[in-house]
Parts: sequence; C-alpha cells; structure tokens
Amino acid sequence: MLAVKIVGLTKIFRSGIRQKRVVALDHLDMDIEPGQIVGYLGPNGAGKTTTFKLLLGLLRPTEGSAQLLGKSIKDIRSRESIGFLPEQPYFYNYLTAREFLDFYCQLFNQDKTTRRRRVAELLELVNLSDAVDVQLRKFSRGMLQRIGVAQALINDPQLIFLDEPMAGLDPIGRKQMRDLFLRLKTEMKTVLYSTHILSDVEAISDQVAILLRGKLHGFGTLGELLKTREKRMEMNIEGLDPKGIELIKELATETLIERGNQLLVHVSSEAAVYDAQQIVMQRGGKLTSLVARLESLEDLFVKFVSDQI
Ligand SMILES: Nc1ncnc2c1ncn2[C@@H]1O[C@H](COP(=O)(O)OP(=O)(O)OP(=O)(O)O)[C@@H](O)[C@H]1O
Ligand SMILES: [Mg+2]
Repeated sequence: MLAVKIVGLTKIFRSGIRQKRVVALDHLDMDIEPGQIVGYLGPNGAGKTTTFKLLLGLLRPTEGSAQLLGKSIKDIRSRESIGFLPEQPYFYNYLTAREFLDFYCQLFNQDKTTRRRRVAELLELVNLSDAVDVQLRKFSRGMLQRIGVAQALINDPQLIFLDEPMAGLDPIGRKQMRDLFLRLKTEMKTVLYSTHILSDVEAISDQVAILLRGKLHGFGTLGELLKTREKRMEMNIEGLDPKGIELIKELATETLIERGNQLLVHVSSEAAVYDAQQIVMQRGGKLTSLVARLESLEDLFVKFVSDQI
C-alpha cells in the first residue's frame, strides 16, 4: 500500500471581484512509498501549501483524487494517522511545553497516564526535555518549530506533513530538525515536507518533488535528479589582452566575471580547459585558479525553474 497516492489533483481558486481564476494545482500525480522522506520543492506560490491543505481536507479539490494510507481523502478516516505542521502554526504563548502538548493529547482523548508518558517521549524526541516547564513565549524560533513537530506527532501518525519546518531556523536549529527527521525515518514514518533550503533536502530526503506553477516537474530520488548534474571547471584568468579575453569567452560555457583583464569563466570539458590553458600561455596571461565544481542542487533547481517557465 502506498503512503500517498495523488491522481490528477487540481485546485482552481476564484479570487477578487472579477473572480479571476488562479490555478494553484494543476493535475498533480504523485506516489509516495511508506517510510520515505520526500522533500517538496517549488518557488513561492507553486502550490505546495495548497497540496497539503487538499490532502488534509482543509480545501476541496476542483478535480482529481488522493489516498492517504489507502483511504480516500474524502473519507474522514484518511486523517486518523496523519500528523501536520502548518506553515504558520499558532501557539498558545502562556502554556509551558508540557501544558501545550498535554492539551493536544487531551484532544486525542488520551488518559492521564498515557499523556504523561507521551509528553515526555515527545519532548525527548524533539530534544526539548530541558524546556518542559518553560512557557512557549520564551521559546526560540527553532524550539517553537520543534514543539510544532512534537504536536504533529502526538497520535503517533504513520504519515506526517510538514509545511516549511526549517523556515527561519539557524544552522543549529536546522541540524536539530534534520536529526529529528532521521529519527522519524528509523521509525519508518513517511514524511512529506516543503522547504526552500536545498542543502537540507540534499542531506535528508530520499526523494524530491519539484513543483512549478502547480505542476510537477520532477520526482525521483536525488540520485536520479542529480544525474543531470554537470561537472564543470571554473577558471580564473588574469593579464590577457582583449583578443585573448575574446578567445577564452568563446570557449567558455559561461562568463561569470569580466573586470578589466580579469576573467572568471566556466568551461565544461577537459578539452576546453586544455585549449584555454594554451591561449593563456601563448598570450602571456596567468591562470590563477582552476576549480572543478559539481552543479549544486541549488543550481539544478534554478536551471529547472528557468528552463520550465
Ligand atoms: N485561498 C486562496 N484564494 C485564492 N488564491 C489562493 C488561495 N490560496 C492560495 N492561492 C494561490 O494559489 C497559488 C499557490 O499558493 P500556495 O500557498 O499553495 O503556494 P506555496 O507553494 O505554498 O508558496 P510558498 O512557498 O510561498 O509558501 C498562489 O498563486 C496563491 O496566490
Ligand atoms: Mg506555502
């Protein structure tokens, strides 16, 4: 059984007095196997939050369907084993961490003993055991995001949706969040999370889905997506005459900087590196650095977006 099966999911909003059509999600198809951590990427306005809202039954699809853990999203039982962290969670500021989680446990009708055990377990899981009696208004952004995740995990869900869990976190906060994801993975949870932080995606996701203007433009393991990564050489050259500069620019796939007689270019083959070196030598220039760079996920993403739009 798939954890998530989405077929042709579409959402068209009508907004403003003229009832302008906004296609937020356009025939989305996506299958997620159980136990996978899937990074959901896309520029602002791509339709990520809309996807979460549709899956959770907070919005009704214009077209299409989806199943969560084998149950249709039209069936309220599809949400029995789901956890969710919204994009802008709201916290009751004056509650302590313990009171906050205990409150949500009560919403799930848990008895007092279960609640006490569960709150302790969750705080341990999100690394907030030390803050059990601290009011949420004294929490840092990272702590709030983590208690938000703890809240999403209260009923021990099999499937977890997190809308930008890394937003606003510093490097340490992000590391803690990544560690938390990895712990969820060892518990065989399925996680679909949206983010704009590509280095995190690279570090923790099994699969990546790229959404652009409501359409899926890439879904697969990072290995598959990154196969298209090119290795390229970055050359920093100085002291060339204008003709030499022109020749190098013809060889280059991209000229990054041209300042006076300083050039920073990308070339894509060993042969081009060799030719460029010959030109530099013959024309009395100097190669000050030569670095091989693998296209980063960030580059790949920007390329994806600019190619498709
Ligand atoms: N209630 C609504 N009424 C009208 N249009 C909406 C509504 N909600 C979302 N939209 C539009 O749908 C599109 C997708 O929005 P959505 O919030 O899903 O994007 P997102 O990928 O989550 O973006 P971000 O990265 O900024 O969070 C946007 O064009 C947005 O303006
Ligand atoms: Mg969003």
